[in-house]
Amino acid sequence: MSDEDQLIGDFRLAMRRVASTVNVISLTVDGRPMGVTATAVSSLSMDPPSLLVCINRAASVHASMSDMEAFRVNILHRDQEEIASMFADRKMEKLRFVDGWELGADEPPRLLDAQASVLCRRIDCHQFGTHSIFIGVIEDVRVRDDVSPLLYWNGVYGGISEGL
Ligand SMILES: Cc1cc2nc3c(=O)[nH]c(=O)nc-3n(C[C@H](O)[C@H](O)[C@H](O)COP(=O)(O)O)c2cc1C
Repeated sequence: MSDEDQLIGDFRLAMRRVASTVNVISLTVDGRPMGVTATAVSSLSMDPPSLLVCINRAASVHASMSDMEAFRVNILHRDQEEIASMFADRKMEKLRFVDGWELGADEPPRLLDAQASVLCRRIDCHQFGTHSIFIGVIEDVRVRDDVSPLLYWNGVYGGISEGL
């Protein structure tokens, strides 16, 4: 194994030890809803309120993310593991928006029972390696009262109480 392969393997092991919240990034493209499961989401600043999302250039949403003015970050609740799996599996593409979404002709889809939904105006994009970093300025926020986010670590989904 090359030193580079060893380093990548070690980095993968390190990342498996990071617990992340799970999101579905959604957008509407020519009236069609699209989305992808993503953990690479981070708040960026409060002035202006903004966040960033990292999307693989191989993901079906990638080209549209580069064109669209808006996207939504739907932060998943502990009971939405099935949704996370669906938006990470292209074979499930046809089932992704069948149930539980508010769909508009122009606005990005909103997952009704999400832990929180954050509407963003895409203002910037940077390419790095296999991914693009999209920066969004926040335009609208909805939150669910019950605080219990879905987490992903060491290759499995879980909740906070299970990790304590
Ligand atoms: C828990 C989890 C987190 C993921 N996080 C990201 C991410 O942050 N960015 C990304 O581009 N893909 C991420 N993926 C992979 C995409 O969800 C997956 O490649 C998806 O199938 C791509 O969408 P498509 O099938 O419509 O092309 C993640 C997958 C899982 C299961």
